[in-house]
Amino acid sequence: MMMKMLLSALLAFWLNTASAAKLGVVQTEGGRVEGQSHRMGLFRTVDVFKGIPFADVPMMWEKPKPHPGWDGILKATKYRDRCLQVTLLQTKTQGSEDCLYLNIFVPQGRLLSTNLPVMVYLFGGAFLLGASNDVEVLGNSLYDGKEMADRGGVIIVTVNYRVGTLGFLSTGDSRLPGNYGLWDQHAAISWVCRNIEAFGGNPDNITIFGQSAGAASVSFQMLSPYSKGLFRRAITQGGVALSPWALQKNPMALMKKIARKVGCMRPDEDEMLTCLKISDPVGLTMAGKIDVMLILGKGVVMDMLELAPVIDGDFIPDEPSKLFHNAAQFDYLAGVNSMDGHIFAGVDVPSINSKKANTTVEQVRGLLAGLTKEKGNAAVPSALSVYSVHWGSFPEPAVVKKTVADIETDFLFLVPTQIALQLHANNSSGARTYSYLFNMKTRIPGFPRWVEAEHAEDLQYLFGKPFSLSLIYFPRHRDLSEYMIAYWTNFARTGNPSTGDSRVPVAWPPFTKNHRPYLTINHKMSKSSVGYDLRSYYVNYWTQIYSSLPSDKKQEEEKV
Ligand SMILES: *[C@@H]1O[C@H](CO)[C@@H](O)[C@H](O)[C@H]1NC(C)=O
Ligand SMILES: *[C@@H]1O[C@H](CO)[C@@H](O)[C@H](O)[C@H]1NC(C)=O
Ligand SMILES: *[C@@H]1O[C@H](CO)[C@@H](O)[C@H](O)[C@H]1NC(C)=O
Ligand SMILES: *[C@@H]1O[C@H](CO)[C@@H](O)[C@H](O)[C@H]1NC(C)=O
Repeated sequence: MMMKMLLSALLAFWLNTASAAKLGVVQTEGGRVEGQSHRMGLFRTVDVFKGIPFADVPMMWEKPKPHPGWDGILKATKYRDRCLQVTLLQTKTQGSEDCLYLNIFVPQGRLLSTNLPVMVYLFGGAFLLGASNDVEVLGNSLYDGKEMADRGGVIIVTVNYRVGTLGFLSTGDSRLPGNYGLWDQHAAISWVCRNIEAFGGNPDNITIFGQSAGAASVSFQMLSPYSKGLFRRAITQGGVALSPWALQKNPMALMKKIARKVGCMRPDEDEMLTCLKISDPVGLTMAGKIDVMLILGKGVVMDMLELAPVIDGDFIPDEPSKLFHNAAQFDYLAGVNSMDGHIFAGVDVPSINSKKANTTVEQVRGLLAGLTKEKGNAAVPSALSVYSVHWGSFPEPAVVKKTVADIETDFLFLVPTQIALQLHANNSSGARTYSYLFNMKTRIPGFPRWVEAEHAEDLQYLFGKPFSLSLIYFPRHRDLSEYMIAYWTNFARTGNPSTGDSRVPVAWPPFTKNHRPYLTINHKMSKSSVGYDLRSYYVNYWTQIYSSLPSDKKQEEEKV
């Protein structure tokens, strides 16, 4: 009896001490916050803080301002509203103007963590939609940072920023400079820099990362003169500031279109602006939805992504390609999914996903004409000959279809990323550069056999879904997830994806001025996963031959 009591007392004592350390209440610049501790394993928890304000409720089309602060303890246990935006089906809006909040995931062991590397995530969604806690599957947000934090030993921060009309409308001059969403991101990163030490983070070890429009955002943050010393490293996945969809070159024309939709069209631009500024935010947000009419006809999906960052002479002082001296201080890791363009190709050339229909050369020509409008029709013959070089006289239908996906992947994602990597490596003095291609076969049912990694399919592995939703994944997915978390968090810790706390399957050589290796990422990784000169034949076409073709003046004017 005594023995039994003693044993149970010992067990109770052991269970108590077996729990990991907890942050409890944390003092931030705005006031105290308290999150929730989640058990991840023996002696391992993650402290989660949801919905901490990093700025005040923003005024329409103004930069974010500091939060006034609060008394007492803010219970940071619920995600806050996303920024006001159209829904995926674009039939209504969701979210709120009161949306500048962030979430923090801090891994804990037996002792309280200190001096951890910090990774700040910027979500994607075409600068039109999305949120820090987007895409719920079985009650688990895609961007939930617990697995990455726990497995990689880093703090993950996910942030909201304004999107759509409220985030990116611009006159192209000082009246309405635009880039409000980028200023929000900047405010969030600055907040992390000032406050993360109290959560156990190292403010000198911040990495920003993002996917799609979030990746282009990371790229813009790197290029902005305002980011000097603010973070140390950056990762872009499927998007850079040089992507043709990432910059709005004619913001005034877009503003007039939106003014027309909300009944603010006036001959005088200043009157039009006054009218817009007193318009209903919900109506303005709806007016920014994707204009499907743009692709019925001669357009391509790319043309529909209209609300985007602009050259404002301030946060983005010049053409992105001319700002890489600002990015030279940051270590940079960048890549694309092998079929990042497939989803767009399927809209532009629907036959590629059809079991019955073949894709014709005419359709390929039409797509190339749509993508290369800025050069008139001059580029179509040369582009077609480059992309059909491996076809032979009777190409397999699947070969032609895959070519269509490759064209969009190259044009929208891969080539701009390769140029960004080169400009970064060429300008860097000491900071490192790494290049990857993610080509895990798609998990989306119903796609043709030749489809590899679709846009955004990298994220489920990076955020550890094969572990947190283990029933819907296989062991090979967990292998891949482990590799990605190891490379990404090592990079955040040391600036080198191959060295750090996590073991990796193969060393990832750096990309330099004269040497261009890249890592192919999938579930089977070995020495042969390192390749060189990714799609250089196609990169050379777009950067050397295509870019030297004269622009078509008529097209430029028509766009206005
Ligand atoms: C970043 O974090 C790593 C791991 O904690 C540490 O070794 C390194 O010194 C840190 N860098 C800076 C600049 O503090
Ligand atoms: C460095 O970046 C600038 C843009 O800031 C670019 O014009 C230049 O070509 C780059 N330098 C090298 C050596 O590539
Ligand atoms: C598609 O092409 C294949 C091979 O060229 C041919 O056998 C088939 O009949 C074509 N299908 C259609 C619907 O044209
Ligand atoms: C970077 O430098 C290499 C070597 O000098 C050069 O071949 C390449 O064109 C440069 N890339 C860019 C984008 O300037």
